[in-house]
Amino acid sequence: MQRELSSSRCVRVLLIACTLGVSTTIAAQAPAPTRSVKDGVYAAAQARRGGALFEEKCTNCHALRIWGQEWPGKSVFEVYDMIRNFMPEDNPGSLSPQQTRDVVAYILQANKIPAGKKELPAVDDELKDLRLELP
Ligand code: HEC
Repeated sequence: MQRELSSSRCVRVLLIACTLGVSTTIAAQAPAPTRSVKDGVYAAAQARRGGALFEEKCTNCHALRIWGQEWPGKSVFEVYDMIRNFMPEDNPGSLSPQQTRDVVAYILQANKIPAGKKELPAVDDELKDLRLELP
């Protein structure tokens, strides 16, 4: 029984890894992001909203998880797209684009990336132009 459980978790993790892999391939064909997330790309109020949402919908599974390790070479869009389509894992696709951006802003803040004046852009291509980097 335990083996079954852990193998189904494995499949899920692989699925997500594959999805991330696919989007990385697509991103590799797209122009490399020209702006860094360190340039004040989200608003503090947005991260606060995202934090409340994260508390409500994500902490059950991700309480201790700090993202960032897998970031080098990726764009903000890849994290956004992954969350939008696959998270929360128990109700995927339930977040609106705005809620998803808010949660991404919270994740950036949790990685100590400084806030700016404007919220994350609502246009996919602009999110693709933002390079993930740790401070
Ligand atoms: C029911 C459990 C569950 C919930 C709730 C959940 N996740 Fe996940 N999430 C997972 C699993 C399982 C993975 C696969 C990889 C792993 O274990 O980190 C994952 C992976 C991820 C990843 C990509 C892999 C990584 O760790 O970088 C992100 C980003 C993410 N989740 C964000 C969220 C956000 C944001 C929410 C809330 C909106 C959320 N998750 C809610 C279970 C969950």
